[in-house]
Amino acid sequence: RIWEEASSRLVLLDDPFSALDSSTARDVFQNLIAGPDALLRDCAVLLVTHASHILCDAAVDQILLLVDGQTQFLGSWSELRDFDAKDASTQRAVEFIKLSIQPETNGEAREHAPVVTDVPPKARADEHPLPHKRQTLMEAEQREYSTTSLRTWLLWFRRAGGVTFLSLQVLFLLVDRIAYVGVEYVLAKWTEAARAPVSVLGVPFPAQTDGPAAQTRWLRAYGLLILFSTLATFVRSEWAVTGGVRAARRVFRTMARAVLRAPTCYFETVPMGRVLNRFAYDMDVVDVRLTQGMSSLMISLGWYVTSLGVHAFILPWSLPVILFVSVLYWVLMLRYRKTGPDLQRLDALTRSPLQSMMAERLEGATSIRAFGQEEHFARRFLAAVDDNSAALLNFVSAQVWLGVRIEILGSLVVLVTSLLIVCCNHIFRLETGMAALVILWSANLTITLNFLVDTFSEAEACITAIERVDDMADLPRERPVATSDCSDVPPLPSGWPRSGALDLDAVSLRYRPGLPLALDGVSFSVPPGRRCGVVGRSGSGKSSLVAALFRLVEPETGTATLDGRDLGELGLEDVRGRGMAAIPQDPFLTGPTVRDCLDPLRKHGDAEVLEALGAV
Ligand SMILES: Nc1ncnc2c1ncn2[C@@H]1O[C@H](COP(=O)(O)OP(=O)(O)OP(=O)(O)O)[C@@H](O)[C@H]1O
Ligand SMILES: [Mg+2]
Repeated sequence: RIWEEASSRLVLLDDPFSALDSSTARDVFQNLIAGPDALLRDCAVLLVTHASHILCDAAVDQILLLVDGQTQFLGSWSELRDFDAKDASTQRAVEFIKLSIQPETNGEAREHAPVVTDVPPKARADEHPLPHKRQTLMEAEQREYSTTSLRTWLLWFRRAGGVTFLSLQVLFLLVDRIAYVGVEYVLAKWTEAARAPVSVLGVPFPAQTDGPAAQTRWLRAYGLLILFSTLATFVRSEWAVTGGVRAARRVFRTMARAVLRAPTCYFETVPMGRVLNRFAYDMDVVDVRLTQGMSSLMISLGWYVTSLGVHAFILPWSLPVILFVSVLYWVLMLRYRKTGPDLQRLDALTRSPLQSMMAERLEGATSIRAFGQEEHFARRFLAAVDDNSAALLNFVSAQVWLGVRIEILGSLVVLVTSLLIVCCNHIFRLETGMAALVILWSANLTITLNFLVDTFSEAEACITAIERVDDMADLPRERPVATSDCSDVPPLPSGWPRSGALDLDAVSLRYRPGLPLALDGVSFSVPPGRRCGVVGRSGSGKSSLVAALFRLVEPETGTATLDGRDLGELGLEDVRGRGMAAIPQDPFLTGPTVRDCLDPLRKHGDAEVLEALGAV
């Protein structure tokens, strides 16, 4: 990247060799900075390093020695050789540098040192030819197309409580709707009883003119029905929301379990933003919008059926118009469904890169600033924001398109019903109360159909989220966690492992299919209580050994035995949580305080943590 930055005249290198072994560091140093054909031969280079073994007379012009933040020496290599420091710590630093350069200065040591590189990279690659198909590390995000499948809807109902949930929901809706219409029916009858007594479903009720006792009787009936209706509404809403929350909780648990148990290679091939998006955006949709959407959809279906019932009961002649308009509504819906859910999915998909970019940019902010690339990254981020806004705006436009048409159709129903009553009531002979009720319900029908279409589209748009969350349940899994779940494996004795005898027999490990072996038939034994140093050049497989022992990646062949038990047959919690400890090469913090990092599971007291700290 530095080399590409053609304008760089001064290059600052902050210890880039810290992760390389000494001979690789020397090679990189020669090819990058010091050699006759080095990439940076024309640049001024300020190299910060503690890899003092790469320094020599010809390689650097000046050496600046810092001790405790202060300049202790500035000069050439030959001056450093003759330099006598005044204080002990500087003297120690100078001695250390001289010693580390020693083998390099006489030139021989390097020539005769066994060099492991000597397996040329090309030969190694040829041993494991990759398939011709172009390999991509990150897998593209799966995207469902077109309308949602019945399977997805059923999935929500199953997660919400299955048949019990659905049948009780239908029952509660029925009771709620009957109570609701009952309230309006009593009100209509009450109006009709202005001068003469009426019968309400066979029960005689007095005329309003019969004095306060008659009014009280009407009021009491009306009040009781309202109370019952309120209660029924509460029960059906509560039941629907409880089902939604249950469904959300279940899919979340399934997804969380699947992600936590996914093998490490999953996280290397899937961008973090995508996983975060499922947990944040999609889960938010399932938690809030889908729960609301499904509950509203069931309510609006109840409204629609009630509306048909009221019309059939009072003015059956209006039914053909209502059914005709319903069909038109449905046709509109079908057109909308061709784009609406897809646009919603696009909105969700174009959000993932935003999350990934944000996380990557924050992490790499120092490099981005150092290279003066803020504008470039800002432009790419804005392009991703544009993609997301385009999807969102199209989604909103499609919703508005639908809304306008629905409003027009709705007004048509009110018009036709009102005209029927105004012009033809001499045929239907409807009482005022009933006429008012049917007009009210045709206006309601508009709202109901609006509501039905809206809630159906909203629920359908949101149900894609449960699809996406549920997909995560099918992730590849690591092997069983508990040894008791592994068939034919005898339980581990308590206190295992006692001595720590480690035996590896022909262990081979491959990170992913199609990649070369990272460990190729490794065999060795470490007797109890002994120390064993594993050395090797960068990429020789040292960390892969740790990955194999902890089964972060399952070895392809061979066995690793700890105190007589094959690690490969045990449950993962016994392999990782019992008797083996590791300090990884890449450090990471497990909490905001040193204590959290030392004891993330809070298994130990302060005194033990302090003792461990004191020991190092
Ligand atoms: N996550 C991974 N996915 C694919 N290949 C990997 C992965 N990690 C390591 N490798 C490959 O496995 C081989 C061994 O790497 P490993 O990290 O074990 O080496 P190492 O000896 O620990 O090197 P270093 O001294 O640089 O830490 C290398 O070829 C490396 O490219
Ligand atoms: Mg390593």
